[in-house]
Amino acid sequence: MPSGIYKCISLIAERIAQNKDFLTELDREIGDSDHGINMSRGFTAVMEQLQPDASDIGAVLKKTGMTLLSKVGGASGPLYGTAYLEAGKLTLGKTELTPDELKSVFEAAIAGIQKRGKAVKGEKTMLDAIIPAVEKFSQKISEGADLVTALDAACEAAREGVEYTKTIIATKGRASYLGERSIGHQDPGATSSLITLEAIRDYMKEKI
Ligand SMILES: Nc1ncnc2c1ncn2[C@@H]1O[C@H](COP(=O)(O)OP(=O)(O)OP(=O)(O)O)[C@@H](O)[C@H]1O
Ligand SMILES: [Mg+2]
Repeated sequence: MPSGIYKCISLIAERIAQNKDFLTELDREIGDSDHGINMSRGFTAVMEQLQPDASDIGAVLKKTGMTLLSKVGGASGPLYGTAYLEAGKLTLGKTELTPDELKSVFEAAIAGIQKRGKAVKGEKTMLDAIIPAVEKFSQKISEGADLVTALDAACEAAREGVEYTKTIIATKGRASYLGERSIGHQDPGATSSLITLEAIRDYMKEKI
C-alpha cells in the first residue's frame, strides 16, 4: 500500500508535470525558459527514488530534498531541495503530522529557502506565495480551524501572492536583470509554490 507521504509527493509530482509547459512559459517571459523543465526533471527523479510503502515522513522528505538538490540545476533546485530537507529534519520517524507540526514544517521550509537564497518577501520570488500562505495557515490553525480549511485559506493567500508578483519588480535571480520590465509578469517560482500547496491541500482533502 502506498504511504500517505508517498501519495502526497506523487500528487505534487503529477501537478508539476501537468504544469511543466505553463511554468516554462512563465519563465520564458522573465527568466530563461527552464522552470517547468527544472521542476519536472526534479520530480521525475524524485519519483524514481521513492519507495511507495516508505512511511517515515522525514526520510521521504529528506530523499526528496537530496534528489532535487542533486538533479535540478538553477536556483529552484537548491531552494526547493533545502525546503524539503529542512522539513525532513523535523519529521524523521513520524508517519502522521498534527496541524501544529505541519505549521512548523512549513516554517522550517521557509527558513531553509531564506537561508539559502537570502531573499525576503516582496522580491518577486516563490517566497511571495509561500510566506503569506504559511502565515494564513498558522492563523487558521491557531483559531482552531481544521487542516483542510486552513490549507484552503493558505492556497487562497498563495494565489493572492502570485497575483502580487505581477505588480512588483524582481530583485533576485535572472528576472532582476529585467528591472521595470519584470512588472506585469507572474513569478514562475511563486506559481510552482502555489501548485505545490494546492497538491498538499488536495491530498489532505482526499485523505480525510
Ligand atoms: N534568491 C531566491 N530566493 C527565493 N526564490 C528565488 C531566488 N532566486 C530565484 N528564485 C525563484 O526561482 C525561480 C526560478 O527558478 P528556475 O528553475 O527557473 O531557476 P533559474 O533559471 O536558475 O532561476 P533564476 O533565473 O531566478 O536565477 C524564480 O521564479 C523565483 O521564484
Ligand atoms: Mg529559469
